Amino acid sequence: MCGFFGIIYSDERREMGEVLFKAGKRLSYRGYDTSGVGVVDGSGNVEIRKDVGKIEEVAEKHRFAELSGKKGIIQLRWATFGVPSVRNAQPHKDCTGEFLGAHNGNIINTPALRMRLESSGHKLMGENDGEVILHVIEDYYKITGDMVQAIVQGTKDLEGDFACIITKRDEDRMFVVKKGSSLFLGKGDGYYCASSDLASILDHTKQILTLSDGEFVEFGTDYFIVRDLDTGEIIEKNLEEIDLDIGTVEKGSFPHFMLKEIYESPQKAHSLIGLMSGNVVYDEGVDLINASPRVFITGAGTSYHSALLGTYYFSRISGKLLNISFASDFREFYAPVLEDDDLLIAVSQSGETKDVKNVCDVFREKTEGKIISVVNNLGSTIALLSDLVLPIASDIEISVPATKTFVNQAILFLNMAVLSAKKKMLNVPTIPFEKIPWILEKSIEISEEYVDKVIQAVDRFNEFYILGYGLTYPAALEGALKVKEVVYVHAEGMYSGEFKHGPLSIVHQDYPVFFVSTIEDKFFVLSHIQEVKTRLGKVITVAPEDPELEEVSDIFIPLPTDNPYLVPISATIFFQLLAYHLGVNRGIDPDFPKNISKTITVD
Ligand code: F6R
Repeated sequence: MCGFFGIIYSDERREMGEVLFKAGKRLSYRGYDTSGVGVVDGSGNVEIRKDVGKIEEVAEKHRFAELSGKKGIIQLRWATFGVPSVRNAQPHKDCTGEFLGAHNGNIINTPALRMRLESSGHKLMGENDGEVILHVIEDYYKITGDMVQAIVQGTKDLEGDFACIITKRDEDRMFVVKKGSSLFLGKGDGYYCASSDLASILDHTKQILTLSDGEFVEFGTDYFIVRDLDTGEIIEKNLEEIDLDIGTVEKGSFPHFMLKEIYESPQKAHSLIGLMSGNVVYDEGVDLINASPRVFITGAGTSYHSALLGTYYFSRISGKLLNISFASDFREFYAPVLEDDDLLIAVSQSGETKDVKNVCDVFREKTEGKIISVVNNLGSTIALLSDLVLPIASDIEISVPATKTFVNQAILFLNMAVLSAKKKMLNVPTIPFEKIPWILEKSIEISEEYVDKVIQAVDRFNEFYILGYGLTYPAALEGALKVKEVVYVHAEGMYSGEFKHGPLSIVHQDYPVFFVSTIEDKFFVLSHIQEVKTRLGKVITVAPEDPELEEVSDIFIPLPTDNPYLVPISATIFFQLLAYHLGVNRGIDPDFPKNISKTITVD
């Protein structure tokens, strides 16, 4: 959801357009509807080229490749303030044409700022909030004559969570500001670059500085200065060598990132299991959970589903109730009852989801309690504001649908529930953690074997149900979310016991209903299957091998594990692959489903 990248060289570079295009491609996984570049040449001339559409189309139409320059910015925009249009696309200039800039996030007081700016004579070209930033800086520069002061004072007027990049046409420096959205600076060979997203910097360097909220950076070709956004005072910070492989952001031989990332799950699970066995943070997390009288857990979308699975793990394995809510519902549901010794577990792959950040904000407002975040992106806003960060170690996930990160979130919760139970001296069920990578590999293999048969059975329907029971309920919800997201059909995930209370009436001849079951729950599920079968529905069951379940199913997908705690993870792999193949068969690009974005940084 929006993203920018900026770079400064010591001399004019003919490859500027190419460099920006490549960075834009890296940003594109976040979801967007307009693309644009702004380039400043060695004489201080500014050239902006932008349009509605995919980066490849816009770059070709506006011949990005021919752009040379000393400083450059690329921005991909996901529309919030102002429709997707050329005038609302970024980057923007101010009235004087002195300032060039772009942003990521939202300036929520844009309407009021626009009125103020227009009444004092500013001419705004569109409705976009990014444009407002440039005009505010223009005003404060007029007063202070100093970029640092203009940023310190100007950003005080900007409400919301955002990061932005600004440069003055005739200066050999750029500025980036972090106020709620993620921001990274990278040191290349003789140049610096900055971005709202790590993926676009990795092509240049692994020497990275992760900015914290309330900081801004001035950078030139051979220096950077970090300052406090409130006071302008200098903050000492150093670059760090980060351990991320550029291969993570390449598709390799896979046609799509989604498929590549599903296939990466076994290896990422292996890394996480290794990391958890030798790392005290997970231990600290469990101690906090065990010691807290009340624990709340929250997330959005797929992360909510892994959190829900986590609540099942904790209540069943360690007898601990985690109070769960959608991040977007937390304020309404739990905020009124928060107390000082409460603990919050915030689950977010990106660590940038606004709904989850809002929960952290309200939690901080209402209690002295601690926040644990379960994140993939360690430099993210949510990671930086929490007391303890538990990494899921999945490496960057590019494809918009979350896949490998769901798997590692689930494994993390399973491991923590087991650790929690051990610390309480409870009897712990056997979980073969060391076998999980193999189970995931086999899950992929088996799913690929059955997926065509399932597609034949369901492809003519534009709706179906996926039902789970107990531990498999989160897998049913997650399976349905993947199908909706990638296939654009209405799949509904539901508790199988609830189906008879209304939805059953929808079933008719061949109507597809998926069931996900563990062996221990099969007697309930068998009864729910019969309810569908007797109405002539098509029953597709995803479960460990079992003659009775197989017998009553029209199609049976045998999972490679009968461990009830691993069945939901293994079954989710099947639904990820089903959604992927169904979507691709319908001509959908699963990496960039329409209308949504990888990182939802708005309310
Ligand atoms: C679905 C999906 C989304 C995200 C949700 C939360 O495939 O990816 O539902 O799970 O937007 O994102 P994070 O985990 O980054 O907070």
